[in-house]
Amino acid sequence: MSKVIEMDHPLIKHKLTLIRDKNTGSKEFRELVSELSMLMGYEVTRDMELEEIEIETPLTITKSQVIAGKKVGIVPILRAGLGMVDGILSLIPTAKVGHVGLYRDPETLQPVEYYCKLPKDVEERTLIVVDPMLATGGSAVAAIDFIKKEGAKHIKFVCLVAVPEGIKVLQEAHPDVDIYVAAIDERLNEDAYIVPGLGDAGDRLFGTK
Ligand code: PRP
Ligand code: URA
Repeated sequence: MSKVIEMDHPLIKHKLTLIRDKNTGSKEFRELVSELSMLMGYEVTRDMELEEIEIETPLTITKSQVIAGKKVGIVPILRAGLGMVDGILSLIPTAKVGHVGLYRDPETLQPVEYYCKLPKDVEERTLIVVDPMLATGGSAVAAIDFIKKEGAKHIKFVCLVAVPEGIKVLQEAHPDVDIYVAAIDERLNEDAYIVPGLGDAGDRLFGTK
């Protein structure tokens, strides 16, 4: 079974409180989602492999470590996942970015796929799939189904807010995908929104409601 890594850093908790607040407007919401993603990226990249190279400091020749491991791809689930790309890219500027387009049908709550464009060498990369919300888990499962069909083998899922049932659904469908989450909330309401949550992440990021 995959691991669930819940963040406990005080800066992450603080910024989450700010994005939960309904009085936080789109500009600040976007900035905070980006900052949160960067802070989470620090944890998501903790297992990157290192190799030793020789360099010359102003004083001497020495051996020192650089990142050696697999190449990285960042895959936002459209739309709301877009808000998390820049924060992680600022830590891994050489990462390629793929996109998976899905929306949750408000009636059936089932994910509807409309777009998928991934880096060509997807099987050689660690793919970091990002979406602020893991609610029923339908969108995350469908997105990861999609990118596995394209050949992806090493996948991590990063979200800001999840509920236990969504985590369970994702773990059962994709037991090889570790889940990084800033906060695990109580429950879903009758419209499958996370409570207390932060509302509709896409609408709050892009000001569409
Ligand atoms: C939101 C969110 C996730 C999905 C989570 O997207 O960004 O993708 O819902 O819900 P689930 O776990 O129940 O599938 P939404 O469908 O609102 O689309 P949007 O990002 O285009 O607004
Ligand atoms: N999607 C959102 O944007 N928010 C939720 O609470 C659940 C799904």
